[in-house]
Amino acid sequence: MKLILLVALTLFTLAGRAADTVWLTSLDLAKMRQGWGTPQTDRSIREQPLTIGGHKFAHGVGTHAASSLWVDLAGGAERFLASVGVDDAAGNTRASVTFKIVGDGRTLWESGVLRLGQPAKTVDVDLQGVKTLILLVGDAGDGNGWDHADWADARFITSGATPKAMDPPREPAVVLTPKPGPAPRINGARIFGVRPGSPFLFTIAATGERPMKFAASGLPKGLKLDPQAGQITGALGRRGVYQVSFKASNRHGTARRKFRIVCGDTLALTPHMGWNSWYVWENRVTDAIMRAAADAMVSSGMRDHGYEYVNIDDCWAVKPGSPDPLLGGEPRDAEGRVNANGRFPDMKALTDYIHAKGLKAGIYTSPGPLTCAGHVGAYQHEAQDARRFAEWGFDFLKYDWCSYGDIARNPDRAALAKPYQLISGLLRQQPRDIVLNLCQYGMGNVWEWGASAGGNSWRTAGDLGGSFEGIPAALFRDGFDVYANNHLERYGGPGHWNDPDYLLLGYLSNWKGGTAPTPLTPNEQYTHVSLWSLLAAPLIFSGDITRLDAFTLGLLTNDEVIDVDQDPLGRPGRRVAKNGDTEVWMRELEDGTRAVGLFNRGEMATTVTARWADVGVSGRQIVRDLWRQQDLDKFTGEYAATVPRHGVVLVRLRPAK
Ligand code: GAL
Repeated sequence: MKLILLVALTLFTLAGRAADTVWLTSLDLAKMRQGWGTPQTDRSIREQPLTIGGHKFAHGVGTHAASSLWVDLAGGAERFLASVGVDDAAGNTRASVTFKIVGDGRTLWESGVLRLGQPAKTVDVDLQGVKTLILLVGDAGDGNGWDHADWADARFITSGATPKAMDPPREPAVVLTPKPGPAPRINGARIFGVRPGSPFLFTIAATGERPMKFAASGLPKGLKLDPQAGQITGALGRRGVYQVSFKASNRHGTARRKFRIVCGDTLALTPHMGWNSWYVWENRVTDAIMRAAADAMVSSGMRDHGYEYVNIDDCWAVKPGSPDPLLGGEPRDAEGRVNANGRFPDMKALTDYIHAKGLKAGIYTSPGPLTCAGHVGAYQHEAQDARRFAEWGFDFLKYDWCSYGDIARNPDRAALAKPYQLISGLLRQQPRDIVLNLCQYGMGNVWEWGASAGGNSWRTAGDLGGSFEGIPAALFRDGFDVYANNHLERYGGPGHWNDPDYLLLGYLSNWKGGTAPTPLTPNEQYTHVSLWSLLAAPLIFSGDITRLDAFTLGLLTNDEVIDVDQDPLGRPGRRVAKNGDTEVWMRELEDGTRAVGLFNRGEMATTVTARWADVGVSGRQIVRDLWRQQDLDKFTGEYAATVPRHGVVLVRLRPAK
């Protein structure tokens, strides 16, 4: 009797109209975001039949934590029905997920933690009056490994308009970074490492109206400062730590800053700042593009905030077998020295051009015979190539594993480190300083040995922008999770940094021959830069530097945020609290103050609380909003803020006197 009543209710709405069943699979699943793979229709993420606790389901969506789908119910939905759980094909007992259904900001249903092998949990949620629904899968707090999640038999019972997958609500792109004033301000790194005898080049980064006059007291013998350009050049003969004081003056005033020059064996005493060609130009990069990038680093003002490196990524070398006359040709000359392809007619002239602006030049190759894009690599020519890069005038090398996998199959740790040990030794023999960036996607816990292999930084995961649509999920996975789960804060420091990949802001390659604005929402972009600064990650922008809108420029040039990234203590931040979707990250700074990020990884705005006990401070603290560059107030015990979806509030705490 009860059953018949239930069926009758399902089929007829209160208005007496017949109800329809709309399968979740009929919605546009391209709008579903998830931590790994792509959403599957009527099968699991492993492309097998949907199976939960040994029970097969014919219909449903296979996804992977963390997953979210926004649905516009258009006022027509009555109920949502499903059977949810971990798909049996996940195959690892560490698989654990949570399902959650949010309607108009209210939690309507929660599964609790579901693990591999558990029977499916039945969902039956009343949707009357609900306008916007969000279907969520979380990682149950233990990272998203093996979290294969099924929305089996998932369907809406509707009486009116059909539910539609939707994009999350559009956020306004609010520029928080104040415009630099006309008076001088000295920015960027406060400490700089150089080897004895190497050509010295450092440009004092300063904002403010030009003309500006620079002065430096305490400059050691061998160095000279161009007072108009603020460029310091020369060479140091003697090892040592030199305390210098910079001064920048214009008609609006004078700024001073202490600076330390450390002449020794360690380069990259702060994380690298610059630009890289890959994510916007990929295989289309040319000499003209690189020169335009150097021009833009100056005209955009980025140089005045501390950006320095202008780095060519893959595709400058000859591409064997390419029918394109500019890409093909002889990979090496008669002596075995590597040739650039026809798009780079004169590498020395290019680095001269970059250096003349007080900037530095970077190049890329692979320890394998070919780079990832099929251009000539350094294999068996390592010494010649290191020498060639130095002769050409490069200051930075990214060394990308790529086809070296064919040389070292199933490499153990020693085999993984071998090509990097080789190249770093060769770079050290060159008569100029060349910073070395390891790129091998985190294999063999590179953070544990990257520094001893001679790396000044190492990529900690795969390509952050490997899939354009996947960038938001990658930001949370490779930024937050890889970092927190492996305690990467233990491994970064002056001269050797964790590198979670480039800043994917502004216009990026859409991998279809054109460019498109970053798929990150405005708040996700604030999260991206804030997190990178807390992590002490390199700030290498890889969007179109010749096409910067005010919002993107604001993200890249906030001096108080950059000060966190470039803090001379060089101690990376770490996650100090996690509560559901919210996380608090803290970084200790040289002056004893702390930078704190209050992050919300959830789909709805929520309160995030930074407790003094977690952050490691006590008493009354002045809380300063770093993006707005404003003191907020004094707080005792904790600071709580409302943080938008996928957003952040980045603050710095200093004790109130
Ligand atoms: C990838 C690397 C990217 C980019 C690309 C070029 O392996 O991670 O950052 O350099 O190769 O082909």
